[in-house]
Amino acid sequence: MFDLIIKNGTAVTPNGIEPADIGVAQGRIAALGTLDAGQAAAVIDAKGLHVLPGLIDTQVHFREPGLEAKEDLATGTAGAALGGITAVFEMPNTKPATTTPDLLADKLARAKGRAWVDHAFYLGASAENAGQLDVWETMPGCCGVKLFMGSSTGTLLVDDEPVLRTVLENGRRRIAVHAEDESRLKERRPLAEAPGASVGLHPEWRDVETALRATRRLLTLARSTGRPVHVLHITTAEEIEFLAENRDLASVEVTPQHLTLAAPECYERLGTYAQMNPPIREARHQEALWRAVREGVVDCLGSDHAPHLRAEKDRPYPLSPSGMTGVQTLVPVMLTHVAAGRLSLARFVDLMAAGPARLFGILGKGRIARGYDADFTLVDLKAKRRIENSQIASRCGWTPFDGFEATGWPIATVIRGQVAMRDGRLEGPPIGRPLRFP
Ligand code: DOR
Repeated sequence: MFDLIIKNGTAVTPNGIEPADIGVAQGRIAALGTLDAGQAAAVIDAKGLHVLPGLIDTQVHFREPGLEAKEDLATGTAGAALGGITAVFEMPNTKPATTTPDLLADKLARAKGRAWVDHAFYLGASAENAGQLDVWETMPGCCGVKLFMGSSTGTLLVDDEPVLRTVLENGRRRIAVHAEDESRLKERRPLAEAPGASVGLHPEWRDVETALRATRRLLTLARSTGRPVHVLHITTAEEIEFLAENRDLASVEVTPQHLTLAAPECYERLGTYAQMNPPIREARHQEALWRAVREGVVDCLGSDHAPHLRAEKDRPYPLSPSGMTGVQTLVPVMLTHVAAGRLSLARFVDLMAAGPARLFGILGKGRIARGYDADFTLVDLKAKRRIENSQIASRCGWTPFDGFEATGWPIATVIRGQVAMRDGRLEGPPIGRPLRFP
């Protein structure tokens, strides 16, 4: 007997894309093949749907504690489940920043009973904790260390060479890095503050050299310490070229925003709602990112879900904060690229399930295979729907993709055999648990 059978779907498994029923027992995948519906306590009919392994978003900012007016762990993870995401890695630039084991344990306690999806939290690197991160990074529920080399939202920043070296020397896990060069950001800030400056200048203030310089500096340190690094939200053709030569130590993330929106059009249309760090850049960079996806230089996609209230985004640039929602729109936006032939479904799954599991060693996740957790994202590749602000569960209630005509939509989110979302509605209670790592 099974607790659940997902019947009549087309499953994306390590064998390929094939019709397969999936039997679930005690939260795990117990059988694949042709199964009799009579053998299960519950059946989901997935006729016409593709069954993907649970999709994992390895970069979200859920703002709790301290910034709950923008988002909290309940609303953020609700958006994830509604968007077909089964697990998230949450970033440490909350208030206070997550820089100690106690603060990380506090986030885990807050998530208990309120998180709609499985989760892990990053520890933020700082001058104060740099020497202790090797012990702390292996705490339960911790996905690793996040390092900000350039300032963005919040107070986390490490740009001092000896401290950077200490951070990289103290730990073994792949360290996630926001690579923008702080001294160049400071030097060029007057550009953004000049009279008449507008958000269209954001990619000039935080220019290609700002990103490339930090990424090069990071890899020099990675090479001399032997520490693997995960370079978040890569935005430039130049960094892609450089990182392609350093794949033994560097893994690469790109975001759906950088693959979909381009300057100058996005700033003309969306104003500060298109403002994020590192910035959305012009078409030649977007083309390089797509090439990097095709050539396998990109390891995973992260939404960089970073909600800010409209009242904050409406402040005049550069007082407007950087960041936009994304966890709920990643799947329909990327499936639309699949429908347009820019990306295969298999590669999308590689970027969102197998990729994160491989990079971070997430236990029991990332593939549809017997014995793995029964996490699934059921999608309708043909569904044509429009993304609208009114659908967005995030406290801030807006998306840069308002009005986007999607082809492909998440229909159900299943976590360890429990339905968390079906047909656009949450099914409770929230059962999200901490992810596990070696
Ligand atoms: O645009 C961004 N927003 N980039 C970051 O690095 C941080 C994020 C946020 O937390 O708002």
